[in-house]
Amino acid sequence: MTMKRTLVSAMVGTALTFGAAASAYATTTLKLSHNHPRDHAVHKAMDFLAKEVRQATDGEVRIRIYPDAQLGTQRESMELMQNGALDMVKSNAAELEAFSPAYSAFNLPYLFRDKDHYYSVTGGEVGREILDSSSDSGFIGVTYYDAGARSFYTSKPIETPEDLKGMKIRVQPSPSAIAMVKALGGNPTPLAYGELYTALQQGVVDAAENNIPSFSLSRHSEVSKYFSLDEHTMVPDVLVISTNTYDKLTEEQKQALMKAAEDSSEYMKELWAASEAKEREKAEKMGVTFVKPNKAAFVSAVQPMYADIEKTKPELNQLVERIKAVQ
Ligand code: GCU
Repeated sequence: MTMKRTLVSAMVGTALTFGAAASAYATTTLKLSHNHPRDHAVHKAMDFLAKEVRQATDGEVRIRIYPDAQLGTQRESMELMQNGALDMVKSNAAELEAFSPAYSAFNLPYLFRDKDHYYSVTGGEVGREILDSSSDSGFIGVTYYDAGARSFYTSKPIETPEDLKGMKIRVQPSPSAIAMVKALGGNPTPLAYGELYTALQQGVVDAAENNIPSFSLSRHSEVSKYFSLDEHTMVPDVLVISTNTYDKLTEEQKQALMKAAEDSSEYMKELWAASEAKEREKAEKMGVTFVKPNKAAFVSAVQPMYADIEKTKPELNQLVERIKAVQ
């Protein structure tokens, strides 16, 4: 066992002990792990969720948030949750594709017409179905959190897919993200988020892609000075809960959790817009240039992905068609 793992086990162990002690007073403490710092909008939204749940259940249900990947990467946190050592994880639709294929719809480039379309999908029937689709893997989605649009960043402007040729581009561990970068002519390199700063700095990868707040708050802006707003995907962050944990809550507690989650997701829309503006300004002050490429060539380069889904993945194709039909 490495030092880090020993530490994580010790922390989870301590958390469990507290949880057990708390249950003697009829409180349930849910442990939630995620990989962003405390000043990231998604942490603030989940803090809001924790407060609302605590209030709505008169202190019976509490959520203790472990930020900054203290308890491991997103993948490791999902495994801890499946093993019963964690109750909730804030992950995202790219990472969740490995657990439930329905999430891959969100990883398709240029699927959404605009932000309103994206909100209608995440807040509507199809969105809920996708959240519920993972129950066989021992968890369900609680809510989505806005995570804006993802774009490429590197040490040169990316104006057309041609500019990505031959570049090693870090992607999330998602088959759709890999397929997308291949379709655009780059070499996809899946890596955990926490390893990316060093990988960019040491030239293990040449480029990456993310939304503006994550780019800035992870300090990738120190090493990548061009952020090209091609806005290829809108991949929502997703808060999930273990079905074991969820099933142990009373009906009232479940309702309180779901209501607070919905409220926090609404609140996140405001937090997100403010954070995008603020982090862009911060990045610009650090010498980052924001480039506005013409998206048409990117859109056309990824069309074979849709043709492939139509031919080989009927279920996913149906989901994609339903998403496109959402007004
Ligand atoms: C976003 C997202 C994280 C994810 C990260 C990544 O920042 O919020 O959940 O880990 O992208 O690219 O890995």
